[in-house]
Amino acid sequence: MRAWLLDSFNGVENLRLTDVPDPAPGPGQVLLGIKFAGLNPADAFLAKAQYPAKPVFPHVLGRDGVGTVLAVGEGVTGIRTGDTLGILRCDAGVESWGTLAEKAVIPAVSLAHVPPGWTPEQMAGAPLVFLTAWQALVQWGGLPPAGEVLLVTGASGGVGVASVLLGKSMGLTVVALSRSASKARHLLELGADHVFDPASPSLRKDVLAAIAPRKVDLIVDSVAGPLFAQVVAMLGYGGRISVVGRSGGPVPEFNTASLFFKRNRIGGVAVGDYTPEGAQAAWTEIVRRLESSGKRPVVDMVFAFEDVKKAFDRLSDGPMGKVLVRVA
Ligand SMILES: NC(=O)c1ccc[n+]([C@@H]2O[C@H](COP(=O)([O-])OP(=O)(O)OC[C@H]3O[C@@H](n4cnc5c(N)ncnc54)[C@H](OP(=O)(O)O)[C@@H]3O)[C@@H](O)[C@H]2O)c1
Repeated sequence: MRAWLLDSFNGVENLRLTDVPDPAPGPGQVLLGIKFAGLNPADAFLAKAQYPAKPVFPHVLGRDGVGTVLAVGEGVTGIRTGDTLGILRCDAGVESWGTLAEKAVIPAVSLAHVPPGWTPEQMAGAPLVFLTAWQALVQWGGLPPAGEVLLVTGASGGVGVASVLLGKSMGLTVVALSRSASKARHLLELGADHVFDPASPSLRKDVLAAIAPRKVDLIVDSVAGPLFAQVVAMLGYGGRISVVGRSGGPVPEFNTASLFFKRNRIGGVAVGDYTPEGAQAAWTEIVRRLESSGKRPVVDMVFAFEDVKKAFDRLSDGPMGKVLVRVA
């Protein structure tokens, strides 16, 4: 099969497309013929050793994808050759070979059917970011109460779009931040109640005026950087911030006193913490919510398999939804 190999921690620019022997499924595993792979910033971080996983080289990146079942290993039940299945967050692309290859071996417990009415493309990039957004929203003790105000930074990205869609499905008022006017329009179409440019000098005043007399109850932050302190300052009493990522770099200065008097809380999010069973349960609920609200995951662009490096460039430029690669 053809696969994009990572030979060292020299970044995705140095991936190499080559022929390698086909993998075979072991007990409890399934061999998928990959149709679409979904990219995530963590792939690029792993390729530069900026991620906890340190796989054996050569490695194949790619944590998300959809494929056709080519073979099943011993003990696998309920999955048949020819089924089209998507991958829920697992070790593929982290410690074992992932989806930037024509074939991938995936644990049967981490596979899910493409929901009725979804295209394979919509499924391919959705699981990792929706599972992340789900954890970010419910980690504070279950569903946030309807009517609360959710603020989403990096709202046009994979985790951002998922947070907006899930937040609306929970009856939250959603304030989205995006640096791009065209992406802002798209976010309003997806259901965001308000969209603001994070670079605006009047950001705090504008957000608080839009949601008055409330303040922000919950933030899903995937940007960090200098924006972090600004959004924390918009939290009301008992407000919480789920820390997902740091697309905007490290937080340069943060005064912890800003947390004291409003009893604000900061909590990290780790999609790697899901057990296979936990991921399946959360995924079922995510699909149910998208179904009831008539929404679908958003695909930004689909690149040819040979253009994986261009796809990573698009991801680092800031997509609107998910960047995919058509493998077969
Ligand atoms: N903790 C976890 O388990 C977990 C899971 C998934 C992802 N993550 C992390 O979360 C972050 C976002 O992931 P993603 O998949 O949503 O990424 P993404 O699809 O690349 O989207 C990130 C969005 O953030 C905005 N952004 C990028 N750079 C920025 C900057 N310098 N300043 C302000 N905004 C910026 C962009 O939106 P605009 O252009 O519209 O402003 C972009 O669309 C990444 O760091 C990723 O590694 C963590």
